Amino acid sequence: MKHKQNATELLKTSLGVLKMKTPISVASGTFDLETLEFYDQNCLGAFVCKTITREPKKGNTPPRLYETEAGLINSIGLQNPGLDMFIKENLPRYRDVLAVPLIVSFSGSSIDEFCRMLEILEAQDGISGYEINISCPNVENEGIAFGTQADVVHKLVSRLKPITKRELCIKLSPNVTDIAQIAKAAEDGGATSLALINSLYGMAIDYETGMSRVKMGVGGYTGIGIKPVALALTYKTAQAVSIPIVAMGGIYDWKDALEFIWAGASAIALGTAHFVNPLAAPEVMMGLGEYILGKGLSIKDIRGACRFS
Ligand SMILES: Cc1cc2nc3c(=O)[nH]c(=O)nc-3n(C[C@H](O)[C@H](O)[C@H](O)COP(=O)(O)O)c2cc1C
Repeated sequence: MKHKQNATELLKTSLGVLKMKTPISVASGTFDLETLEFYDQNCLGAFVCKTITREPKKGNTPPRLYETEAGLINSIGLQNPGLDMFIKENLPRYRDVLAVPLIVSFSGSSIDEFCRMLEILEAQDGISGYEINISCPNVENEGIAFGTQADVVHKLVSRLKPITKRELCIKLSPNVTDIAQIAKAAEDGGATSLALINSLYGMAIDYETGMSRVKMGVGGYTGIGIKPVALALTYKTAQAVSIPIVAMGGIYDWKDALEFIWAGASAIALGTAHFVNPLAAPEVMMGLGEYILGKGLSIKDIRGACRFS
């Protein structure tokens, strides 16, 4: 479809209830508030904060970041100030600094805890939606990660849904047998959008000494090396659900971003790219803008339209 509008119009996208002026967001845990204060936010359609837990978490002991030949291994361990401190200290600063919708990423250790956290967050202003991080262990289910079992995901999302009318985005783990089944469970439970992928498992060892490069041994693998996996999982998920997808995993530039939109994403998030290039987001916006203007296409025209022959 050919359009006559300008790039600003063509770049607009939306999730379930959230309108985004560009399809670009930041991946949870990769872009901090301090950086944001000096940042031109015109390129962003939304901002996702680092995952918050009910209680503060000190995180894992260093070393906890290692750059591989093709991406990053991290074992930060969800370091965060906890929900009460987040509301007292961080949220007012986000309200002051943020010019785009804030999505709060949070995680619980039981379904009841997720619900209680959502009730508390619902009472706060300045939040446009939530990204539910389900990659964490469920203490009521032998510590098995919430996001690996479709019935648990369905139960969790069904309990969260009546508590909020804001964007309810479920962030999926790639470390599952069938991501489409988990995605469908989240959609059936009432999710308004999905975010994927969270980190893959990864490990690096110093070949000379045998020492693990991160203290915890196995960490989360992200960045350029996971792009083909993330792209395939985005495509598979988009085939299985009709709610919008925010895709991430190894997106470094506008061409990467475009691939994910062809595969079925309505928006994309930049994560590890920020460690290499803090200006990745404005560059992606420029590149996407020039592409869609040149082709006379909008994000909606491209989304899910990849071809096989
Ligand atoms: C240092 C670091 C910290 C992260 N922290 C979180 C987090 O708190 N919550 C979360 O859902 N994902 C977290 N992630 C995962 C990212 O949000 C994203 O899903 C993943 O990095 C894949 O995207 P990328 O390849 O563009 O980085 C983190 C990733 C990195 C590299």
